[in-house]
Amino acid sequence: MIIREGLTFDDVLLVPAYSEVPSRSKVDLSVKWGNLKFKHPIIPANMKTITGHDMAFEVCKSGGLAILHRFMPIEEQVAIADDMLDNFGDGHLGVSVGVKDQDANNLHKFLEVGVKIFCIDIAHGDSSHCVNMIKDIRNVNDRAFIIAGNVATGSGARRLWEAGADVVKVGVGPGSLCTTRVETGNGVPQLTALIDVAKTQKELMELERTKTYPNEKRRQFPFISDGGIKRAGDIVKALCFADMVMVGNVFAGCEETPGEIIKQPDGRTFKAYVGSSTHKTNHVEGVAALVPTKGKFEDILTKLLEGVVSGCSYQGAINLTELRDNPEFIRITNAGLIESHPHDVIVR
Ligand code: XMP
Repeated sequence: MIIREGLTFDDVLLVPAYSEVPSRSKVDLSVKWGNLKFKHPIIPANMKTITGHDMAFEVCKSGGLAILHRFMPIEEQVAIADDMLDNFGDGHLGVSVGVKDQDANNLHKFLEVGVKIFCIDIAHGDSSHCVNMIKDIRNVNDRAFIIAGNVATGSGARRLWEAGADVVKVGVGPGSLCTTRVETGNGVPQLTALIDVAKTQKELMELERTKTYPNEKRRQFPFISDGGIKRAGDIVKALCFADMVMVGNVFAGCEETPGEIIKQPDGRTFKAYVGSSTHKTNHVEGVAALVPTKGKFEDILTKLLEGVVSGCSYQGAINLTELRDNPEFIRITNAGLIESHPHDVIVR
C-alpha cells in the first residue's frame, strides 16, 4: 500500500512571480459562473451562527454569493429568500437543502418565490443521497443552479459534476469547529483535496474540449473550497485551485451574524460559533464555541479582499483566472512557518 502525503495551507507558500500588474486597483476579483456574476469570491458559511437574514443582506449588498443556512423553519427560510430576491434579484441568494424526503418536498416552496441557487450540503457528499438529491432538483427545475458537496477527492467531485451539479464544494474536516477527522479518522488536508479536485477538473475540461458543441455550452466544472481559512493568505492559496472560498470562523462574531452577544464579567464580548453537526441528534462531528465580537462584516470582507488583491499582484495575476494559471508553491518547514508569522517581537 502506498500512503500519499496530504498538505494544507500552512504547509506551503506561493513563490512570488514576475508581475506586470500596473496597480492593485486593477486586479479583478469577480467570478462568473454561467449567467451568474459575483463581485468577489468569498462566501460566508451557510451555518446557523453565520448566515441568517442580516448576513445574507450584507453579502448580497457586497455583490457576493449568500447562502442561507437551513437550521430554521422552512417558512422562515422562504421569507428571508423572498425578501433578498425582492432587494437584489435572484443571482446572489442561494438556499441550503439537505437530502431527506422533506427537503425534496420543500423545493417547490423555494422555487415559488424565485430561488434558483440551491446548495446541497451534507457531511459526506460523495454519496448516493447527494447524487439523488442533485437529480431530484434537476427534475423539479432543470434551470436550477446546483452547488453540491462536500467532497474531498477528485473522484467524488467528478461523481457530483456528472450527476448534474453546477459547482462542487470541497472540504471534509478542515473547518475550525470540525471534529470529523478526530471522531471518524476520515478527511483530506485541504490543500491536497483542492489539488486532487483541480486535477479532475482539468481532465473533465479536456474531455469537454473534444466535444463539438458551441463554446458557451462548454462546462467549466467550478468548485468551492470550504473550511480552514484563517487569514487572507489561505484564501489566496485556495483560489489557486478553487473558484470561491467558503469562510465561517473569520466572519463568526461579526455584527450581522445571528445570535446574542455574550458579555463576560471582564467586559470582553463574545458570540456563539457552533458546528452544524451539533444541531442534529446523530453522531456529532463538531463543537460549539465562543468567538470574540469583531465589528462589521463589510470591514472584515474589505480587509480580506485587500489581502487577496495583494496576493494576486505578487503572483502577477490581474484576475482569478490568471491566479489559477500554473502557480508555483514551495513546501515549508515548521521553522518556515514560524518565520512567516510575526516573530521575536511583542505584538501591540
Ligand atoms: P471554518 O474553518 O471557516 O469552517 O470555520 C467552516 C466550515 O466548517 C464546516 N462545518 C463543519 N464540519 N462538523 C464538521 O465536520 C461540523 O459540525 C461543522 N459545522 C461546519 C462547514 O463546511 C463550514 O462551511
